[in-house]
Amino acid sequence: MDKRPESMARINTPALAEAFIAEQISAIRAQVGDKKVLLALSGGVDSSVVAALLIRAIGKQLVCVHVNHGLLRKGEPEQVVQVFRNEMGAELIYVDAVDRFLDKLAGVADPERKRKIIGKEFIDVFAEEAKKLHGIAFLAQGTIYPDILESVGLKSHHNVGGLPEDLQFELVEPVKYLYKDEVRQVGLALGLPESMVYRQPFPGPGLGVRCVGAITRDRLEAVRESDAILREEFAKNGLQGKVWQYFTIVPDFTSTGICDGKRTDAWPVVIRAVNSVDATSATIEEIPYSLLHHITARITSEVKGVNRVLYDLTPKAPATIEWE
Ligand code: XMP
Repeated sequence: MDKRPESMARINTPALAEAFIAEQISAIRAQVGDKKVLLALSGGVDSSVVAALLIRAIGKQLVCVHVNHGLLRKGEPEQVVQVFRNEMGAELIYVDAVDRFLDKLAGVADPERKRKIIGKEFIDVFAEEAKKLHGIAFLAQGTIYPDILESVGLKSHHNVGGLPEDLQFELVEPVKYLYKDEVRQVGLALGLPESMVYRQPFPGPGLGVRCVGAITRDRLEAVRESDAILREEFAKNGLQGKVWQYFTIVPDFTSTGICDGKRTDAWPVVIRAVNSVDATSATIEEIPYSLLHHITARITSEVKGVNRVLYDLTPKAPATIEWE
């Protein structure tokens, strides 16, 4: 196994983060020379930190590809473009693949098949973009030390290890010996926004596994909008950064409700807010009832197609964190 050097100090201060950045900039320049590097930039913490580091080291020799598969949270694709292209001046290719992903996923209810389709489609889109480019010699990846330690990664499908043979590049993995907290320290030192650096864990298949069963565009929008309200309210009420992971789920069934004296037939939104250390087990965050009432009022009045809000009180185990 690729082992973290024993002499490596734990990066837990801004000064140590700066020293790491300086060291990596030299190492990246020495490895890459004047060649081009390709990076799949999802906007997650790890790929964002790698992007920021490479932009410092080699500027426009880095080509970032951001694939919008339609399963990202509200505002995320826009933030990636804003931070990396507009503020950091990165060479960024934005691929709107929303229709392509949603068409492939139409009618597919089995969670593992959904995951496979999303993973495969991602590699296909990324490979197509890579083939259009010339002179790429390296592939950068946001591998971090826990990925190496686990090696059977939950992340396997959004690391682009499965590229076709004619697209095998030498890897650049500048944060591969870092733990998550160290990656965040480095991200802050590189000037990334806190909302990016302290982002909660987000599954590779994104909102796709929270739109339970076969994904439809209208129900996916209900997931995205309710998730945005939940995140906004958690941020306002001091829960952002305190609760490990929180999100909404929209199951694929409806129930009866009433609105302006008329019967409705609409989806429920389920809120999930859990604490965990490594995702193998999880406990429930005790949200104040007043906040739950407020979030319920907002979701039922602002999100189309929803007439009911539920709070999932089940720890892991017996439930998993995601619903599928
Ligand atoms: P579960 O639902 O298994 O989730 O308790 C544990 C953690 O893993 C995340 N998760 C995933 N992450 N691809 C990922 O990259 C996936 O397919 C996937 N499924 C679950 C989940 O959000 C939680 O943090």
